[in-house]
Amino acid sequence: MRGLKDKIAAVTGAASGIGQAAAKRLAEEGCKVAVLDWNGDGAQATADQIRKADGEALALKVDVSSEDQVEAAFRTIVEKFGRLDILVSNAGIFSGARDNKVDALPKAVWDEIVGVNLTGMYLSCKHGVAAIKATAGKGAVVLTGSPTGMSGCTPANIAYGSSKGGVHGLSRVMAVDHAPEGIRVNVVVPGFTLTPIVRELVADPKVYEWQVQNIPLKRGAEPEEIAGAVAFLASDDASYMTGSFMFVDGGLTAI
Ligand SMILES: NC(=O)c1ccc[n+]([C@@H]2O[C@H](COP(=O)([O-])OP(=O)(O)OC[C@H]3O[C@@H](n4cnc5c(N)ncnc54)[C@H](O)[C@@H]3O)[C@@H](O)[C@H]2O)c1
Repeated sequence: MRGLKDKIAAVTGAASGIGQAAAKRLAEEGCKVAVLDWNGDGAQATADQIRKADGEALALKVDVSSEDQVEAAFRTIVEKFGRLDILVSNAGIFSGARDNKVDALPKAVWDEIVGVNLTGMYLSCKHGVAAIKATAGKGAVVLTGSPTGMSGCTPANIAYGSSKGGVHGLSRVMAVDHAPEGIRVNVVVPGFTLTPIVRELVADPKVYEWQVQNIPLKRGAEPEEIAGAVAFLASDDASYMTGSFMFVDGGLTAI
């Protein structure tokens, strides 16, 4: 893909799943990658995999819902690499067991899920965009959204769906605000993606079949299939895209 070689990219939630695959793909495309996650060992493991493949990576343990930690992480990235060009704001949590219908949802669960999935994205974008503006001057932001931010396709997950709806709103306003500065902002919308937590949930083939019955391609996505779209949106091949939503969902939202 064009324009990724020697760029500096930061990826949140990169210890696992979609974020890990995106960090590795950006490194394959020639980016130097900061791997951010509250799972410090997992972040280190992703950075080690990138280095083993001759890439350059920096692992940082950071909870995206803590402004102090996020601010410090972006300061460290700029100190280490001298610049930031690309932010992939991806860290998120899902708790089918604790999330609920609105009249049964404890506020503490709402606060926790919205705190990571929406406030965490706001904080990552706040300090990530500031770092891009102060160093590279222009760049690209990719946020991980969800079909649940657009439809009620995951019932009884009020906090998760609301947080993702918020991420979609955040991205649109950011896209308009930062277009004059040359910072593009887009959302990748993964469908049912076989990341570790999802693989555990659908280990039973009957549960898997039930999950994929309404997906036209009749299967879940591999994280690498989402990572390709993330790299594309971050690259110069997407130079005329901002404020867009790229669905990588096997046709789920086409129905
Ligand atoms: N897997 C799917 O089917 C699917 C579908 C649509 C959207 N998404 C979204 O994709 C993103 C990645 O999810 P995934 O499926 O790869 O899950 P995952 O659990 O494999 O990865 C999420 C990563 O985020 C990290 N993380 C969680 N909370 C954090 C915090 N407070 N600070 C820093 N790191 C934190 C985790 O440690 C983990 O490494 C999430 O935003 C999720 O909502 C996933």
